[in-house]
Amino acid sequence: MAKIIAGVGSSHVPAIGAALDNGKTEEPYWKRVFSGFEKSKAWMAETKPDVAIVVYNDHASAFSMEMIPTFALGCAAEFPPADEGWGPRPVPVVKGHPALAAHIAQSVILDEFDLTIVNKMEVDHGLTVPMNLLFGQPKDHWPCPVIPLAVNVVMYPPPTGHRCYMLGKAIRRAVESYPEDLRVVIFGTGGLSHQISGPRAGLINSKWDKSFLDNLSKDPKKLTRIPHLEYMREAGAEGIEMVMWLIMRGALDDKVDEVYRFYTVPASNTAVGHIILENKSKGKRPSTAKSAAKSKAHGRRLAAARKTTHRIASKGT
Ligand SMILES: [Fe+2]
Repeated sequence: MAKIIAGVGSSHVPAIGAALDNGKTEEPYWKRVFSGFEKSKAWMAETKPDVAIVVYNDHASAFSMEMIPTFALGCAAEFPPADEGWGPRPVPVVKGHPALAAHIAQSVILDEFDLTIVNKMEVDHGLTVPMNLLFGQPKDHWPCPVIPLAVNVVMYPPPTGHRCYMLGKAIRRAVESYPEDLRVVIFGTGGLSHQISGPRAGLINSKWDKSFLDNLSKDPKKLTRIPHLEYMREAGAEGIEMVMWLIMRGALDDKVDEVYRFYTVPASNTAVGHIILENKSKGKRPSTAKSAAKSKAHGRRLAAARKTTHRIASKGT
C-alpha cells in the first residue's frame, strides 16, 4: 500500500524563484535564505519519495477572478510552468501521477470533500519555488512525479483551517488505500506572515509565526481553531496562506518527529518558514495492524462505490 512518510512546510516567496533564476543565490541577502535549505535538500535526496503531493495556491496563473475552485487536484500527466508576466520560470515541466491523483480524487470526493478535478493546468511559483528549495535546480526533470493541490487563499472565502486539516486526513486515507507501494511526501506551502499591500504592507510577526510552527509540530488541533480574522490580524492579509500547511499536517500522524526547522526574515517583505515532519510510522509498512485494516476497509468501500457507478452507467440511468 502507498504511505505518507513525511510532511514539508515551506514558504513560496516569488522573489526566491527570481533569485534562483538570476543567479543571485550567493549574494549575502539570499545566501541567508538558501543556506537554511541545504539540510532540507540533503534530507530530500536521502528520503527519495516516489511521489510528492504539493499543496499550494495559484496566483492568477491557472485560475482567475472568473473561476476559483476552493480545492483543485491536478490529475494531468504534466503541468508546465506558468508565464507569470516575465516568461515561464526555467524549471522542468512538472510530471504528474495521474493514476494516484485519480484515486485520491475518487477517494476524497466519496469521503465528502468536493474537489475540482483539473486535467490541464499550468503551475506558478507557488508550486515551483518550494520544489526548488527541496529538490534543487534540476535541468531536465524533477526527481519524482508531483500531484498539485491548489487551494483558494486569494479570494474570500478561503477554506477554514479545520476544513484543511480534515482534508489532509482524507488525503491520507486515500493514499493509504492505493494498492501500489509508494512512499509519498506531502508539502504545505505559503506564508508565513506577510502583507503585500495597504497601510500594513511589510507586516511580519515572528512571534506569531514561531508559535504557529511550534503548534504545527506538537499541537496542530489548536491551530485548526484559529479563525480567518486572527490570521489576517496577526499574520497579515497574505498570512492566510498558512491554512495550507494544515492540509499537510492533517495527512500526518498525530505525533510526529520534527526533523528540521528554519526561519528567517525578511525575504522580499515576507517571513520565510520551513519545517520537516516525519511520521513515526514511516519505516513500517503497514504502520499498525489496525491502520492496515482501516486502509483495506476504505479500499473495499471505494471498490464497492466503483462497482455501483459502473452498474448505473451501464444501465444508462
Ligand atoms: Fe503566495
